[in-house]
Amino acid sequence: MMEPLRIGLAGLGTVGGGVVRLLADNADLIARRAGRAIVVTAVSARDRNRDRGIDLSATAWMDDATELAARDDVDVVVELIGGSDGPALTLARRTLAAGKAFVTANKAMLAHHGLELAGVAEARGLALRYEAAVAGGIPVIKGLSEGMTANRIGRVYGLLNGTCNYILTRMENERLDFDVVLAEAQAAGYAETDPSFDIDGIDTAHKLSILAALAFGARIDFGAVATEGIRAVELADIDHAATLGFRIKLVGLAETAAGHLFQRVHPALVPLDHPLAAAGGALNAVVAEGDFVGRLLFQGRGAGDGPTASAVVADLVDIARGNNSHVFGMPVADLAALPPADTASRHGRYYLRLTVADRPGVLAELTAALRDHGVSIESLIQRGHAANGDALVVMVTHGAGEARVLAALAQMAASDAVTGAPVMMHILDL
Ligand code: HSE
Repeated sequence: MMEPLRIGLAGLGTVGGGVVRLLADNADLIARRAGRAIVVTAVSARDRNRDRGIDLSATAWMDDATELAARDDVDVVVELIGGSDGPALTLARRTLAAGKAFVTANKAMLAHHGLELAGVAEARGLALRYEAAVAGGIPVIKGLSEGMTANRIGRVYGLLNGTCNYILTRMENERLDFDVVLAEAQAAGYAETDPSFDIDGIDTAHKLSILAALAFGARIDFGAVATEGIRAVELADIDHAATLGFRIKLVGLAETAAGHLFQRVHPALVPLDHPLAAAGGALNAVVAEGDFVGRLLFQGRGAGDGPTASAVVADLVDIARGNNSHVFGMPVADLAALPPADTASRHGRYYLRLTVADRPGVLAELTAALRDHGVSIESLIQRGHAANGDALVVMVTHGAGEARVLAALAQMAASDAVTGAPVMMHILDL
């Protein structure tokens, strides 16, 4: 058997501890599959004295993670620090500059600096792997870049944030408020250090921009992802959606149309018979549509120590085997710079929720606004009340251009009968 592959591990939080445990528990199996042992020779984390329940007695400790790159007994650096810049980025640059392979779970860093890092890795013939960065334990990076490599991929979409999925599922099942469930998600280790990255859709946007690069052979364009999170979703929306035959999910969706790249993250009403509707709790699910393979569904746990460690170690096994394919499925120089699509040009059905004064003529005002902008109503419900006693009106439109729906909403919002900010959500008709 070949010499062991020696790992320098930066970050010993939930995922880092999981990687150490997995490499120890399945050491024999991994060595047989990889053709060589994989051993952690050096680690770095913030707190040296914390009891993590893992044996690090034979492992060197570095106070400065960025120095892992320079160690002679490290062949591959695994970065589990997080953050788009700072030490994680310094470590990535130093590792590649030192001629070593790099494995990361850092979607934020890849969304912002992935093209730069991939360019350096490819120029030097080094592996840069990131299966754990998108959808945790689900092999969706491999799925797109290897399994679907012969296909033109028209669309990729899904549930990419376990925290949001967990929150929405718990709100629905337990009838709990958003804040209570967010605290639970943080305690369970799903949420980012700054949970606004989860609930405002930024984490999903990071992951979506990476998937879009792989799926469409496009340069990562995180800045062009239209991003909206789940803060505005209320129990009333979840209930109304259920009545109408939908479940609310935070969906990231990317597709190409007429040479433009459409990327959007938003809460969407998913029909109950769509596979995404069935992916509850902290699960992630990704749908990719290829011209020859058709629709593929990838589903599994997108966060937590076990699933994420599984993806990190799969990357290490690939490196141990000598696999070194292009970082984004083709040479960075060949990735197309696709102009962003105008998201308001999209056509679809929309869910609208309005809080209005309960008095004669208000419904007529709302429907007139839709009429004025050529938007037709498919269904309308007035049921229940907002906390302030005002009426709640929910409408689902027929298919309409988004710009028209937005204009109608703006007209409604300007009425003194509308007492709260109107809420609009997309209906996933895919
Ligand atoms: N905060 C992320 C999530 C962790 O909830 O999905 C995995 O990237």
